[in-house]
Amino acid sequence: ADQKIYRASTTAPVNIAVIKYWGKRDPSLNLPTNSSLSVTLSQSDLRTHTTASCSSTFEGPDTLLLNNAPQSLSTARSLACLKSLRALRSKLEDAESSLPKLSTYPLRLVSVNNFPTAAGLASSAAGFAALVRAIADLYELQQSPTELSLIARQGSGSACRSLLGGYVAWDHGTRDDGLDSRARLVAPKSHWSDMKALILVVSAAKKGVSSTTGMQTTVQTSSLFQTRTKEVVPKEMAEMEKAIKSKDFATFAKVTMRESNSFHATCLDTDPPIFYLNDVSRAAIKAVEELNEKAGRTIAAYTFDAGPNAVIYYLEADEDAVLKTFLPILRQKEGWGKMDTKIDGPGPAS
Ligand code: PMV
Repeated sequence: ADQKIYRASTTAPVNIAVIKYWGKRDPSLNLPTNSSLSVTLSQSDLRTHTTASCSSTFEGPDTLLLNNAPQSLSTARSLACLKSLRALRSKLEDAESSLPKLSTYPLRLVSVNNFPTAAGLASSAAGFAALVRAIADLYELQQSPTELSLIARQGSGSACRSLLGGYVAWDHGTRDDGLDSRARLVAPKSHWSDMKALILVVSAAKKGVSSTTGMQTTVQTSSLFQTRTKEVVPKEMAEMEKAIKSKDFATFAKVTMRESNSFHATCLDTDPPIFYLNDVSRAAIKAVEELNEKAGRTIAAYTFDAGPNAVIYYLEADEDAVLKTFLPILRQKEGWGKMDTKIDGPGPAS
């Protein structure tokens, strides 16, 4: 019998959306109500490293360790990812009978984040992207990153964008089976490589309202949300793609900030209202406004996800001005931390 242990390792980066995904038209398949667009952050600063192994000698159910702590793989989302990957492997095994039947072996998954998981940064995107990529490599699947993004999307919506590097769109798609709701490369990082991100870790606390719960309540109760998905986001997506293609930072920044504010406005318009921003987040917004005004042009853009931490995008040439603005604020507020990072893309394990 086959006693061998098969193994593959990979990494996946964190991505931070500049056009936000907020709202599901199909909660079980993670199909979004609107398209979104993100920038992939540097893997040397923020990434999940995952090793997937399988063997006929392993016993019991599939297991996952994240930073040494056992995690459940029996959630509907994880099961959906594993099922899709096994089905693709099983197709290969059916076509080529000499292949080992890896699809039938228990899986052992070991993941490590190189950034503090407790920092309140969206880690599920990198986590599910790395999980899917590692198993796809283990199973020697030939699917493209865009095809694999369909699987990662079922784990966590935003994870589909972490399968690609650089500037990545997630098209909402219109099909009920979700086959057209996947990640698409807008531009590789080399196209606009002097883009940088400063992450202000405002709070390490876990977010109050999970994105899944928040989205559901917003979809059900916010009237602003209807306008946002139908009218606002399609226009912002088009303008953002144009800004990225022409490396127009002022427009990139304006749309990024408007978008973040539109998303948080629909959160406030939700019943009961959802507050992700706090006083420190609002101080960061004010600091960016003042910085841009003082510079006489737009040199920095803020964006916030489902929590109070700010991500500030800027171009390398303006780094001194940006850091000079934020370092004093960082010193004032106890518990603030910062990480500056370049943008990057998925790559081989280091
Ligand atoms: O993928 P989820 O379910 O964690 O949702 C992510 C939602 C936001 O981070 C707020 C926006 C986005 O597009 O990443």
